[in-house]
Amino acid sequence: MERVVIAGVSGAIGAALAARILDGNPESHVVGLCRHPNHAPEELQASDRVSLLAWDAEDSAALEPMAESLSSMFQEKTGIDTLIYAAGLLHSDTMFPEKRLEDLSAEAMARAFAVNATGFGLLVRALVPWLRHRELKRIAAISAKVGSISDNRLGGWYAYRSSKAALNMLVRTMSVELPRRCKPVACVALHPGTTESALSEPFRQSLARLEVHDPDDTATNLHTVLKGVDAESNGQFLNWDGSELPW
Ligand SMILES: NC(=O)c1ccc[n+]([C@@H]2O[C@H](COP(=O)([O-])OP(=O)(O)OC[C@H]3O[C@@H](n4cnc5c(N)ncnc54)[C@H](OP(=O)(O)O)[C@@H]3O)[C@@H](O)[C@H]2O)c1
Repeated sequence: MERVVIAGVSGAIGAALAARILDGNPESHVVGLCRHPNHAPEELQASDRVSLLAWDAEDSAALEPMAESLSSMFQEKTGIDTLIYAAGLLHSDTMFPEKRLEDLSAEAMARAFAVNATGFGLLVRALVPWLRHRELKRIAAISAKVGSISDNRLGGWYAYRSSKAALNMLVRTMSVELPRRCKPVACVALHPGTTESALSEPFRQSLARLEVHDPDDTATNLHTVLKGVDAESNGQFLNWDGSELPW
């Protein structure tokens, strides 16, 4: 059985990835983490190969009960084969990507870091007992190209960019530690490509000049990249077409 955990399974990319993985392997089982399992897409709620667990990236107390429930689905000994972090926050009712320094807000910075970076770090910490088995395990954080420091020429989007850069650093730092503890392992950051979703919705007009993928295409692209990820890929920042991106 292929054991997969997807955090942010209620989002456009997370849900499409879950569907892609389930279609691609009848032996796969997905544990999907999201804030409100009863709001997750109906196909996921209806599938007997999907288990949905409540988890909120901004609530570290939610981790222990989540891990306890997970152990009744996947035994620690047999572990997890793939962990995908597809949760992310760019805007909300009270926050919007900053155009200039004067737009910076401590609250928006804190929320972006909690969802885009800290949530990933704490989740991997909680799941270490499931990463000790002897087969290859893949840990993929859905990052964003705008989190690349060397690629930043446009500026703006302070909270989102800096929280994704922090996510990238978490990936890179784990890629140093995890092979010592959980070999064989590949911990990578993935840029999904611009994708139609609630997260990108407010930028629909300005995105018209860019190549925009639908979530199913993005899921197919990321699934292909993930299948090619092995221990040699550990510590890489990969684009949706499999090419390497600069950190
Ligand atoms: N769409 C793009 O063009 C694009 C481009 C580059 C990178 N990305 C990245 O791709 C990932 C997926 O984004 P998407 O496009 O699929 O957006 P989306 O449809 O808005 O999904 C965002 C996901 O994040 C979850 N989330 C938000 N706050 C959370 C919290 N406090 N705790 C737990 N989960 C939380 C949402 O859960 P709820 O359902 O509970 O709100 C949802 O599952 C994100 O990391 C995003 O930064 C997207």
